[in-house]
Amino acid sequence: MSPLKSQNSELNSTDATGSKYLDMDLLRFTTAGSVDDGKSTLIGRLFYDSKSIFEDQMEAIEKSSKSSGEEDVNLALLTDGLKAEREQKITIDVAYRYFATPKRKFIIADTPGHTQYTRNMVTGASTADLAVILVDASKGLLTQSRRHAFISSLLRIPHLVVAINKMDLVDYSEDVYNEIVSEFSAFAKKLNVTDVTYIPISALKGDNVVDKSENTEWYKGSTLLHHLENVKVDADENIIDFRFPVQYVIRPNQNFRGFSGRVASGHVRPGDEVKVLPSGLTTKIKDIVTRGENLEVAYPGDSVTLTTEDEIDISRGDMIVRKDNVPTVRNDFEAYVCWMDGKALEPGKQYVLQHNTRRTQVYANDIVYRMNVDTMGREDANKLELNEIGRVKLVSSQPLFFDAYQVNKKTGSFIIIDKATNVTVGAGMMRAGSTVSKDDSTQKSKLKTQHSPNVTWEPWNIPREEREKRNGHKAQVLWLTGISGAGKSTIAKEVEKRLFESGKQTMLLDGDQVRHGLNGDLGFSAADRSENIRRVGHLSRLFFEHGNIVICTFVSPFDSDREAVKALFPEGNFKVVHIICDPKTAQERDPKGLYAKAEKGEISGLTGYDANHEAPENPALTVNTDELSIEEAVEKVLDLIEAKS
Ligand code: ADX
Repeated sequence: MSPLKSQNSELNSTDATGSKYLDMDLLRFTTAGSVDDGKSTLIGRLFYDSKSIFEDQMEAIEKSSKSSGEEDVNLALLTDGLKAEREQKITIDVAYRYFATPKRKFIIADTPGHTQYTRNMVTGASTADLAVILVDASKGLLTQSRRHAFISSLLRIPHLVVAINKMDLVDYSEDVYNEIVSEFSAFAKKLNVTDVTYIPISALKGDNVVDKSENTEWYKGSTLLHHLENVKVDADENIIDFRFPVQYVIRPNQNFRGFSGRVASGHVRPGDEVKVLPSGLTTKIKDIVTRGENLEVAYPGDSVTLTTEDEIDISRGDMIVRKDNVPTVRNDFEAYVCWMDGKALEPGKQYVLQHNTRRTQVYANDIVYRMNVDTMGREDANKLELNEIGRVKLVSSQPLFFDAYQVNKKTGSFIIIDKATNVTVGAGMMRAGSTVSKDDSTQKSKLKTQHSPNVTWEPWNIPREEREKRNGHKAQVLWLTGISGAGKSTIAKEVEKRLFESGKQTMLLDGDQVRHGLNGDLGFSAADRSENIRRVGHLSRLFFEHGNIVICTFVSPFDSDREAVKALFPEGNFKVVHIICDPKTAQERDPKGLYAKAEKGEISGLTGYDANHEAPENPALTVNTDELSIEEAVEKVLDLIEAKS
């Protein structure tokens, strides 16, 4: 099929990826907007004005438009042609349309239907380089456009175009345009998007779609097509982490046994040491075969058959990865889920989950929150309705091999299918913090009672009360919790200095220090963080019994861990201070350069970036470092200590 002419082609969403290495001059984009916003007309206009449609198609449309007495050519006819047919095929998620200009080839991910825009974006857009968000100038910025923008940022689509359409209906008013631009920019600040371009257009009349409009003299930017042709796209394929979901095992004869599939990410060469999941068996790649040829290397998107040095058991649904670079293997995880079905997602209900070549049963354990797309606020929810997006804890019956979506779009995304109807009802993006969910039901009691075998508790040599009397103040523990970069350590250090200067007995325990030496064996998995806090809890206890005002500053993202530590101290002697700030502020401060690393994908599970921090339920004090200066924050904390000392 020649991509040089427009085509309507329906491909399975996973089949339209292709390799960017073969075809660099390609822009994949998605259009977000409903029929009312003029989406079909816009796509039609792009085809029509860029002369990308077949002559006979064009004639047919002109004829049909004229016969229905329309003044303008009804471009929607171009794209609506296959709609009815498509709508009957409920399993088809996305239609890909192709067109090309002398400068570039384009693939548009598109779906029919009014209410299906979430589906369109999520299933079609995860490979998109750019999203065109249509805003109806006569209606202004609606929730739906905000939702589109949010989904685009969730999907990490690098470029956004806000096409302010139907400018003809508002007399090409610069004021209307400016108003929408400023409203959208204010909203975009809350999102993770960096490149937003605004273009005033009329898809119906053709203004600024392909040809520059004389009706918008005040607009100095480029036309939509010009922008699409020139926007710089970087290949954002993950070519590091080799992931090969096995689609088929091929055994044409006794002498050949190969494993077919498409390289989801990373690259592989003959001789590479690999591991097979879930078995964990290792071997080396012997050959990489494609269409009877042997390849020296296979890249993302390449469909190949791999043979291995050793005869090991590999089945469909397994994953071949590099020996020393394996994904997370778990059956409980957290994900952002976009719900696309009229019947809401409800915890406990069984669905089928498709993740690469793996299919397994799944249910939602908990809806952590639902996103309010107007305010970007988090709301409590016990289900997700059509087009709603939320963070969900999921449990699958078989383990999945996955990466965080932000590091690997292919192995970090999945779809949810209704068991009865086989319709795709949801799409999800795994979070890096996925590994943080854990069963902590026994943690609390274990913390208090655990001890080595054959030891008896030795009473404190000098009772705390004696020490307190001599020190002239009560011993207590102050626990500062919050995301990385919130300001915990800065405040804690100042507080300790002030206490020390006023003659108090103090001890400061800081995550970064404790994690050198004493807890240097721990990483940042949920289990390691719990262990970190458990040890620190007991350490604080020793200093507390020694009569100190112990100031602890730890990210300590889990409520259960903090509660468990609290249980080690007498009532009222342990106070939680929640240090908060806008995550954006923390990212800007980035005192240790960790956010920058997370941004580049070098680390994952950074609290405040892609791992969650559970807010304490009843902190003794909350300090917002966006609002207070360090001095003010310190005063508040000192007040808290003195209140009961
Ligand atoms: S905790 O989660 O176990 O409580 P802790 O407070 O001890 O964390 O350590 C946090 C410090 O480790 C941060 O100040 C930061 O410098 C560093 N760090 C490195 N990786 C991470 C990460 N993934 N998440 C949070 N902090 C991290």
